Amino acid sequence: MAEINYPEIQGKHYEEVLNFFSWDLSKHELGFKEDDLINIGEYCSDRICRMGKSDKLALIWEGHKGEIKKYTFNDMRQLTNSIAVFLQNLGIQPGERVCLFMDKVPELYFGFLGILKMGGIAQPLFSAFGSESLLTRLEDAQTSAIFTQKKHLPKVRNILEKLNCLKHIIVVDDDGSKPLKEREIAFNMDASARVDNFEIYPSKAETPSVLHYTSGTTGRPKGAQHVHISLVSQYITAKYVLDLKEDDIYWCTADPGWVTGTSYGIIGPWSNGITQCVLDAGFTAENWYKFIEKHKITVWYSAPTAIRALMKEGTEVVKKHNLSSLRHLTSVGEPLNAEAVLWSKEAFGLPFHDTFWQTETGSIVISNYPGMKIKPGSMGKPFPGITATVVDLKTYLPIERRGIVGMIALKPGWPSMFRTYWNNEEIYKGKFRNGWYLCGDRASIDEDGYYWFVGRDDDVINTAGHLVGPFEIESALLEHPAIAESAVVGKPDPVNMEVVKAFIALKPNIKPDKMLELDIMNFVRKKLSALAMPQEIEFVDKLPKTRSGKIMRRVLRAKEWGEEIGDISTLEEDM
Ligand code: WT7
Repeated sequence: MAEINYPEIQGKHYEEVLNFFSWDLSKHELGFKEDDLINIGEYCSDRICRMGKSDKLALIWEGHKGEIKKYTFNDMRQLTNSIAVFLQNLGIQPGERVCLFMDKVPELYFGFLGILKMGGIAQPLFSAFGSESLLTRLEDAQTSAIFTQKKHLPKVRNILEKLNCLKHIIVVDDDGSKPLKEREIAFNMDASARVDNFEIYPSKAETPSVLHYTSGTTGRPKGAQHVHISLVSQYITAKYVLDLKEDDIYWCTADPGWVTGTSYGIIGPWSNGITQCVLDAGFTAENWYKFIEKHKITVWYSAPTAIRALMKEGTEVVKKHNLSSLRHLTSVGEPLNAEAVLWSKEAFGLPFHDTFWQTETGSIVISNYPGMKIKPGSMGKPFPGITATVVDLKTYLPIERRGIVGMIALKPGWPSMFRTYWNNEEIYKGKFRNGWYLCGDRASIDEDGYYWFVGRDDDVINTAGHLVGPFEIESALLEHPAIAESAVVGKPDPVNMEVVKAFIALKPNIKPDKMLELDIMNFVRKKLSALAMPQEIEFVDKLPKTRSGKIMRRVLRAKEWGEEIGDISTLEEDM
């Protein structure tokens, strides 16, 4: 077979890349050939060391007391081996589910790769989950072992009686001060014997790797099951969309309990041999800017909620720090308002690049590429190798005409696509129509091929037969000087079917009153239309959010409609 000459894609124009891109290009860069063994743990550590980067820093970690730990790729290679051996010695078999239930400590990141190295399936869960949320997910996955910290141990102990499957509770920070109980065992990673040679599990392309639980609109959370070949997508999108280059210091603010924190907080950057920073501390604008300044972060992947929180603090605090190391900003998880893009340009001299994807897609599918013209408020265009469209809401056929709202649909077959929902093949199958995977989101595509997000398929408001998107209204509201954040839902109306209702959190020190309410209504009517104008405004102290910071409109919507709220276990706190 003739040797194919694969061009470098970084720095090339989107249109040009589209012409020659295929996933083979990524496989080629990874040195992967069809039917080869492929193990994400191996690719993120051993392979990087083989490429001569043993002494390069893989992880710079900072805790909430300001303590710092640093690990090279070789440290990571050996410590992930140690974890793999520890699991094997416990008797964990390939294919068994091992949960990670920890704050963002180094053991979480290395534990993830260690599990993969011995053939286990990694199941990351937010450490902020309560016992009930934990139980549902461990029960569903029939999880065999769980890594956790002392502080979260009581939540595990609470449910132990109901979990016969859970044979081992591994405590990573046990100090011997209190005796461990039944099924519990201590593991001190930093003090563990370093394992230099480990026989990595011979996983193949389709060997299960990660199980990420995600909450749907209805029913219990579902485990999206991924496989080792997902690396092919995650590697190349991290390189191309996040624009990661050899000397970058990268910061992904997401928790690995959320897919962003694994696909782009572990696999993407480390398979590219990139140094990344982790901040295991709560959010304040001051702390974040200090972190960027101290570690000279160059590429930053964050989320709209965080960006809005930074906006709330203003640009004065930005100016107090030297953030000149930053060169590329990216965002994911919810609509990135045009306002936020413009603000970041003003505050940092750089726009945030929106990216769109899901737990199920495993990697970025639509985005604003570096070098591509950004249209503020648009999610950008499909990644080369992804065939996307919007389909009609009734027929599920692609909508040819531009500017019409439909459901985002993707042609199956990209490497990081989920392979099923754990124990739930039926719901998985229900996600496909006419050969398309349905994302459950509505959007339109403009003349230039840019995607414009409208809302979740179940959030779009239909008022008097006109579809209005909550995102559009929320963006408009955000431009009002008194408003910090808002969530817009449809409220039942006897004449118009639905009208717009806005839940609004005001900026500090601003008090709600009737005048302000009318002012806001008028503001939207003028900016958008009378249809989009909220007929009702409810001022709230804060909005219900998932732990990943996504506003849970459906919680608000359900209250308006007097419906069951459904699973709210990912809610930041009880309402
Ligand atoms: C849903 C997926 C992949 C990490 C994000 C969380 C919404 C995601 C965007 C965006 C508007 C977005 C969609 C999507 N979403 N990115 N750039 N603009 N909405 O993954 O928890 O599975 O959520 O998040 O509704 O379907 P997830």
